[in-house]
Amino acid sequence: MSKKFITAGVAAFALMLTACSSGGTTGGGSSEPAGDGAKEVGVVTWWSAGSEKEGLEALVKIFEEQNEGYKFVNKAVAGGAGSQAKQKLAADLAAKNPPDTYQAHAGAELSENIDAGYLQDVSGLYDEFKLKDAFPKSLLDRLTVDGKIYSVPSNIHRSNVVWANVAVLQEAGLDPANPPADVDAWIADMEKVKAAGKTPITVGMAWTQLHLFENILLADLGAEGYSGLFNGKTDWNGEGVKKAIDHYAKILELADKTLMNEDWEPAMKPIIEGKAAYNVMGDWALAAFNGADKKAPADYVYFAVPGTKGTFNFLADSFTLPVGAPNEAAAKAWLKTISSPEGQVAFNSIKGSIPARSDLTAEQLGKFPQYQQDAMADFAKDTIVSSIAHGAAVPAPVSNEINDALAKFGQGASDATQLQADLVKATQNLK
Ligand code: GAL
Repeated sequence: MSKKFITAGVAAFALMLTACSSGGTTGGGSSEPAGDGAKEVGVVTWWSAGSEKEGLEALVKIFEEQNEGYKFVNKAVAGGAGSQAKQKLAADLAAKNPPDTYQAHAGAELSENIDAGYLQDVSGLYDEFKLKDAFPKSLLDRLTVDGKIYSVPSNIHRSNVVWANVAVLQEAGLDPANPPADVDAWIADMEKVKAAGKTPITVGMAWTQLHLFENILLADLGAEGYSGLFNGKTDWNGEGVKKAIDHYAKILELADKTLMNEDWEPAMKPIIEGKAAYNVMGDWALAAFNGADKKAPADYVYFAVPGTKGTFNFLADSFTLPVGAPNEAAAKAWLKTISSPEGQVAFNSIKGSIPARSDLTAEQLGKFPQYQQDAMADFAKDTIVSSIAHGAAVPAPVSNEINDALAKFGQGASDATQLQADLVKATQNLK
C-alpha cells in the first residue's frame, strides 16, 4: 500500500469522525436508528454543508414521503467534488464494506469500480422505473458500458459557467450584459478589474483549478478539439493545449492566490460579496447566490466561459447500487425517488442543476427558476461535451493525475512545459 494511500485513508477516517461527532446527519434530522435496519438507506454524498446540503434535504423529504417507514441515513463526507468522499469510498469498497448507495458521476469515472466488480448492473431498475425513455440519449450513452448501466442520475450540471459581480465589473468600466467573446478579451477585462483595485478572479483548491482549466481547454480547442482529448484525436502535446496552458498561467497570475487551498464556496464568497469580479464554477454555485439573497442580473451575472458559448460542458450526479449493499431494497427505493419526476423537481430547483429527465410536464418545468430555464434551453440546443473534473470524461485515476499536475503548477512547483509533459503522461492510456 502506498504512503499516499495510507495518508488519504487516515484523512478520510478523521473526516468521518468529525462528521459523526458533529451529528453528520441531515434530511429531516434523521439521526437515530429506525429500529429496522433493512428500511434504512445509508447514502454517501459530499453534499454535507451550505447550499449543497439544502438540495439533499429537499430530496430526502420526497424520499421519506414516497417511501413510508423508510429512513434516510446521511453518510455525507465533506469536500467539494467528492475530494474526500472518493478516498473513503475507495477504501470501503476495497474492504468489501460498501454503503447502500453512493454518489458518483455519469461517465468514465466509475469504470474502475465497474471493472473491479463493485457495482450491480441496474438496467433492470431502468426497465422497472421506465427510465430508458425518460432520459436524453446524450445522458444514456454516457451511462451505458457494454450494454449495461451502473448508476441512476439525479441531475445534470453545467461546468462552463462564469459567475461575475455586477458592481465590481461596473467599477472597472465593464458592461455586465456584454461578456467577453474569447479568453484573450476576458484576460483584458481582468486587467481592467485589477487596474480598478479589485481582485479579477478567484480559484480554490486543486479540483477547482482543474474545473477552471478544463474550460480554458474547451475555449481554446473548441468542442470537437476538446472532446478529441479523450479519444486520441487531439494531441495533449500539441499547440492547442500549449495555448490553453499559457492562458491558464496568465489567469492564475491575476487570481487571488490566498484561496488556492479552499473549497469552492469560500472561493466564490468574494464574488458574492463584491470583492472580486469572476469565478468559474459549476451551476451548483447558483444555490450559494440564492442563499446569500443575491439576485441576477442586479447583483450578479452568469455567462458561458468566454469562447465556449454554444457548448454545454456536462456532468451528472448519479447514484449506484453496490454489490453487497447492506439494505438493497432501501437503496432501490432511493434510486426510484431520485429518478422520479417529483424527486428531480424538488432537488434540481434548489441545487441549480437541471433535471436529468427530459419528459417532465409543462407544469413541472414551470416550477424551475430562470437560471434552470436558460440551462434547459441550452442543453437542448448546445453541443454537449464532458467534464474532466466531475467524472464525465475520463476514468478517476486519470482525472486524479491531471488534478495533481495542476496542483503542482498552481503551487509554482512546475512550469508550463512541465505541466504539459505531466498532462501527456496522465492521459497516455486514453484511447
Ligand atoms: C460536483 C457535483 C455537484 C457538486 C459539486 C461541488 O462533483 O457533481 O453536484 O456537488 O461537485 O461539490
